[in-house]
Amino acid sequence: MATTTAATNSPLWRDLREWIDHVQAHGQVQTISPEVDPVEELSAITFLGSREVGAPAFLFETLKGNRSDARVLTNMLGASKERYALTVGLEPTLSVGDMVRATRELSKRRIPPILIDQAQAPVMSNTLLGDAIDLTALPAPKFWPGDGGAFIGTGNVTFIRNPENGVVNAGVYRQMLHGPRSIGINMVPGRHGALNRDAWWARGEPCPVVIAYGIDPALFIAATQAYAHDDSEIDAAGGLKGNPVELTGATLSDMLIPARAEMVLEGFIHPGQTAVEGPLGEFHGYYSGKAEMRPVISVEALHYRPQPIMTAALMATYPSCEIGEYHAIMRAARVWDNLEAMGVPGINGVYVYPAASSAAGLMVVSLKQMYPGHTAQVLALAAQSPAAAYCVRWVVAVDDYIEPCDINQVMWAMSVHCNPSDDIDILRKTWSYRTDPSLAPDMRPYGSKALIDACENHRHRSTLPKRALLRESTYQRVAERWDELGLKGRVPQLRSFHQE
Ligand SMILES: Cc1cc2nc3c(=O)[nH]c(=O)nc-3n(C[C@H](O)[C@H](O)[C@H](O)COP(=O)(O)O)c2cc1C
Repeated sequence: MATTTAATNSPLWRDLREWIDHVQAHGQVQTISPEVDPVEELSAITFLGSREVGAPAFLFETLKGNRSDARVLTNMLGASKERYALTVGLEPTLSVGDMVRATRELSKRRIPPILIDQAQAPVMSNTLLGDAIDLTALPAPKFWPGDGGAFIGTGNVTFIRNPENGVVNAGVYRQMLHGPRSIGINMVPGRHGALNRDAWWARGEPCPVVIAYGIDPALFIAATQAYAHDDSEIDAAGGLKGNPVELTGATLSDMLIPARAEMVLEGFIHPGQTAVEGPLGEFHGYYSGKAEMRPVISVEALHYRPQPIMTAALMATYPSCEIGEYHAIMRAARVWDNLEAMGVPGINGVYVYPAASSAAGLMVVSLKQMYPGHTAQVLALAAQSPAAAYCVRWVVAVDDYIEPCDINQVMWAMSVHCNPSDDIDILRKTWSYRTDPSLAPDMRPYGSKALIDACENHRHRSTLPKRALLRESTYQRVAERWDELGLKGRVPQLRSFHQE
């Protein structure tokens, strides 16, 4: 991560507060002023208030038992394609398919952060050190009845530097509150944050961490994606948004911290220091297993803005999960990038359905079949591409005239072109999660993936019955008469027409 000293363009908004004003102007934030209990009530309101796609973000102003002036934002991005679009500067009325295509361009850009003085950094408005810190004063939510405790961190970003090459990783890893200066951290084995931590420990040194609560949503989005280990999510966040993340110097280490975050902790993960952590009700709708001994962060500095807004991510079934539409769009764009990087031709679209366990279940790839075996190649490579390998279990290939984001078109293709006895293959011993409810306990986390060929049968294409399609000239004539005929909405786009 290199830093530059000048911004590359003028940002519309620079941080979470300005983002809230920006999306509020589009009716995308609901402020809740009456007192709400962070124990199960905040999550119940968020869950029930977001059972419809397009629900707003919720800003809770008054929290029971709160001994600080902090507020809590939930459903920040959730299942809203509009808030995703506003965050990365796309037109909110674009279709999801067009957002996936546009995201491919945005996610290729890298803009390094800029460094600003601590005196100019809003997060440095207040600083507490050592025993002056009391995290139990903050409104940390307990989401579900069976959660192991209150979680101060679910929608926050953790920064851990790789001690070997200096690249700072940003990831989203849950954090349970243990005490005034102590929080747990749960990183799935293999996460880049965990690899960096282990590299510090291998040197016999504690691992320095910086954790930001209440961050620019573009940085949150980048932190939730699996970029290459030596690729900086901070540069990727700048690229997504089109302007650089602002960083400033930390107090206790030579790390940098997001200058405009709402609240930042500095601390260390000491080797061998653990405490009982979890479970948490998760994105798949089940609890994340048992309470277990997990690493602890010793907090040594706390910086915060007045009335800091802490972000809390509800993990729940769609559309109430914070792993929602933005995640589906980003994941789809990255799978498409992975296929292109491997030199696979003919890809016309990708979508990973957010309703399928938070974009962790069902992926559809649309392709123009160009040679024998092309569909089988796409299915196998897409299924095991770095962006899809974790959890995705149904991979469906459809022809190029099928829009992968349109479940009705996908179901049609699966129902007319897929002959289950011939067109489904299984990949075994693939990467799933340690509480996967579909697996017997002794099999976890080794899952499987079904590769479903719902394309026209390539070998027997010449024998396919003829499709009943509109004549293109008739389609054009009706499109021109759309308003005259009093028909509503836009003229539907068609990709294939009658052939003589
Ligand atoms: C709201 C939310 C919560 C998450 N919680 C965790 C978590 O507790 N532990 C974890 O390992 N990954 C969690 N993830 C997934 C990681 O953030 C994601 O895989 C990210 O790419 C990890 O970054 P890394 O690969 O750079 O380590 C969460 C993602 C989201 C969106």
